[in-house]
Amino acid sequence: MADIPKANLFDAIPPNLPQEWFETLVECDDIRIERIVSKGHASGEDFWYDQDWDEWVVLLKGGAGMYLEGRDQALALGPGDWLRIPAHVKHRVAWTAAEVQTVWLAVHFRAAGNINQREEATRMDQRTYRQIITDAIQGEIEAHQFYQQVADKVTDSHLREMFRAFADEELKHRRILEGFKEKPDMAIHFARVPDFHLSETMADAGALSMGMKPADAIALAMKKEEAAMRHYTQLADACGDTAQQKVFRELASMERGHKAKMENAFVDIGFPEVW
Ligand SMILES: [Fe+2]
Ligand SMILES: [Fe+2]
Repeated sequence: MADIPKANLFDAIPPNLPQEWFETLVECDDIRIERIVSKGHASGEDFWYDQDWDEWVVLLKGGAGMYLEGRDQALALGPGDWLRIPAHVKHRVAWTAAEVQTVWLAVHFRAAGNINQREEATRMDQRTYRQIITDAIQGEIEAHQFYQQVADKVTDSHLREMFRAFADEELKHRRILEGFKEKPDMAIHFARVPDFHLSETMADAGALSMGMKPADAIALAMKKEEAAMRHYTQLADACGDTAQQKVFRELASMERGHKAKMENAFVDIGFPEVW
């Protein structure tokens, strides 16, 4: 069984409190519970708390006065009194008892319907963005391997050069995307979530392999190039940062180039029966 230590909200408080004392007791994604101990403290003259999250706060011991935005008089609080302060309702501590310690328990939480929209959008973007980049990297790895294998096997020297160049470029694309993934703030530059899932569309299409007939494999490769081109275009459109937008546009245009070069090559010489 897990060892769950017992603790008491009135224990382990430092005897001298030159400043108000804050202690986080529980913290996870959507909630933070803290114990606050005051003794004669009050918020600074012009200071107002303006919080992104809702707060439920209870005064357990001592006494305090609380100013809430829009009210002329401080609200007097005694033991057991609690307040729910919605996000962005400004408030400040008017006074706390001078002779005894005042102990508060404050629960800060992300309430449904009262979410800081910008913060929430960023959170979502970060997860989604990482997934999108991870999926795109997978696509680049697959394309690189396939073109490398074709280049190693195909006998026509023009095709060999073309596929070798593609393989090199897909490897570069992979490195660019890996660089993006290492920057956690990248998601912030996305004004919205691009509406695609690379993995789904690519999984439906199946994997590229040398076991396929050349005509089928090239047709599939072209389909994947077109999908990659669309996805990078969507990323560029959703991206709010001009430098990053430019990188996605370049990726899109290279994938368009891959597709066009394959089309031209096989219109000219026709598909080989075997590699
Ligand atoms: Fe690529
Ligand atoms: Fe490509």
